[in-house]
Amino acid sequence: MSLFEKFLPIKQAREELLSSGINPFHLTIEKILSPTEAMINGRPTILVGTNNYLGLTFHPDCIQAGQEALAQEGTGTTGSRMANGSFASHSDLERAIADFYGMPHAIVFSTGYQANLGVLSALARSGDTILLDGDSHASIYDGCRLGGAEVLRFKHNDVTDLDKRLRRLGDRSRRTLIVVEGIYSMLGDRAPLKEIVEVKKRYGSTLIVDEAHSLGILGKRGRGLAEEDDVEQDVDCIVGTFSKSLGSTGGFGVSAHPEFEFIRYTSRPYIFTASSCPSVVASTRVALRIMRETPQLRRQLWENSRQLYDGLNGLGFSLGAEVGPIIAAMIPSKEQALTMWQGLLEQGVYVNLMIPPATPNSESLLRCSVSAAHTLKQLETIIQSFSNVRTPIEVKS
Ligand SMILES: Cc1ncc(COP(=O)(O)O)c(C=O)c1O
Repeated sequence: MSLFEKFLPIKQAREELLSSGINPFHLTIEKILSPTEAMINGRPTILVGTNNYLGLTFHPDCIQAGQEALAQEGTGTTGSRMANGSFASHSDLERAIADFYGMPHAIVFSTGYQANLGVLSALARSGDTILLDGDSHASIYDGCRLGGAEVLRFKHNDVTDLDKRLRRLGDRSRRTLIVVEGIYSMLGDRAPLKEIVEVKKRYGSTLIVDEAHSLGILGKRGRGLAEEDDVEQDVDCIVGTFSKSLGSTGGFGVSAHPEFEFIRYTSRPYIFTASSCPSVVASTRVALRIMRETPQLRRQLWENSRQLYDGLNGLGFSLGAEVGPIIAAMIPSKEQALTMWQGLLEQGVYVNLMIPPATPNSESLLRCSVSAAHTLKQLETIIQSFSNVRTPIEVKS
């Protein structure tokens, strides 16, 4: 039996999908037209599955900064910061992130995935314990595994379960890292952070919050859920990504702990990979400034989110309980979700299709991510398209 035979079930599943004429996992965007529109299958399509929350991907200042850096500093860094040295722009971006969070230490990674890998694997090692929310993103799971700590899960957003597990750990709870997300990426629900902080303090554990989907969205300054819930001083480390609200790529960790800096010397995903391209760093830096200076973007995002949530709710779709930029319609079966996803695409609307095993509780979801750049007309078209493709069985009674 060859090593490649393990792919046969995937091959079969893919062939089944293709024979039904639906191929959601090989979608090609033929031409990107704006933060919210692209040509797909030869048709202008509204994008409502991109995590482009603030719509900054085409901001002229970000583009100009990227172009200038490209011309002045070249296409890539060709190595890691540890081996090749940091460009001044990497360190500038770290200072800008640290300043934004009002924390002394920030480390930038090449992706958000690597930020989780790098920070988690450096913090929790063999002999330590990690307690992570069961619905955590794959990068959190992978980062936890990489460090060699014992990894335990608590039930999604269940503070009682977290408390119970910490109690069982006894003295080990002081060497336990609790990992949660600000806004969860699939259903858009938030961590009960205030209660989690109380529990963490009671047991003397360490808490890390992944604000990937809450940076630029929650909090007075857009710093995320920890700011929104006024618990930043009790969170030991925040990680996040530049690939969503800031419209570029890269990730970061920030912390007030003086030892945080030493993660650089022990973190394989920091040491053994090429650092971010100068153009990416430059556009990220400008996007961060724009985000800080333009709270109106955040207000518009919330207005748009309310509009879409109310529209889909009005059609009778089962949605997550919380209004927010991630709006997931729960569809009773995988087959229906596939058909509706395809139907929406044919109507010129692109959403994320999420099906088991990638989803919590084996749900089938049509996941929308709203952007501040969506126009009212686009939002109305999205709602109308959902109405066109639904059948009574897809909506709650
Ligand atoms: C919660 C969370 N953390 C980390 C990441 C990884 O970020 P990136 O795609 O920028 O590597 C994602 C990506 O979707 C995410 O949802």
